[in-house]
Amino acid sequence: MNASTITLHVPQRSKIAGRMDFFQMVSGVLLILFLWAHMMLVSSVILSPSLMNGIAWFFEATYMAQIGGPAIFVLMVVHFILAARKMPFKQDEWKTFRVHACMLHHKDTTMWLVQVISAIFILVLGAVHMFVVLTDLPITAAKSAARIQSGWLYLYLVLLPLAELHVGVGFYRIGVKYGFVGRNKRKWFQKTENLMMIGFITIGLLTLVRFMLLNIQG
Ligand code: HEM
Repeated sequence: MNASTITLHVPQRSKIAGRMDFFQMVSGVLLILFLWAHMMLVSSVILSPSLMNGIAWFFEATYMAQIGGPAIFVLMVVHFILAARKMPFKQDEWKTFRVHACMLHHKDTTMWLVQVISAIFILVLGAVHMFVVLTDLPITAAKSAARIQSGWLYLYLVLLPLAELHVGVGFYRIGVKYGFVGRNKRKWFQKTENLMMIGFITIGLLTLVRFMLLNIQG
């Protein structure tokens, strides 16, 4: 066996894995910020449908919806591909993960599984949602209400808690991984994160109720 054959079996030192982790974190943070902004903007319908129409008009007049919308979709796909490097897709990987998770009984390990499963649903449902909204511009409160009243409510009732859960767990994991959340702060951070998650889900549900009650005839 010559030296080049041996080196093929020895993992090479590479910065690529670290860089990919970094880009995964950056894309994750950008998506978290987008979703928080998105929830606030769509929920403006609770205060007044004209306010939501005004905000939507601003985003279209400045081409942010036409360009930013597809950009968010690309960001979501890139984030998924980067994260998928570590997902246990193969049967033996999945088995090993389950055995280790049961052995460890560690909350953060279970939360990672929550991330993997919710990610797959969000990718599919989020893509459908974005396609439907972005191919029917301009966004108006009346059009959104008509969509939700005609059955899209059920998609949002699944997407909303999954997206908020994914964002909440992701935010916590980034904090732990990059050292913002020390061991002594983990419990406090988890509690705060849970409260934020409940807050965003409540705002999202109120938004859906408002859309359901909006009169789209007149
Ligand atoms: C640029 C892309 C996006 C645009 C322009 C957009 C726009 C909208 C609009 C106009 C609504 C009102 C309902 C409707 O018209 O059907 C809505 C609702 C909603 N969107 Fe998006 N969205 C985008 C991306 C996303 C993503 C990536 C997610 C989650 C992964 C998401 C999650 C939701 C949820 C859960 C609702 C239900 C209402 C609520 O709970 O606040 N959206 N979105």
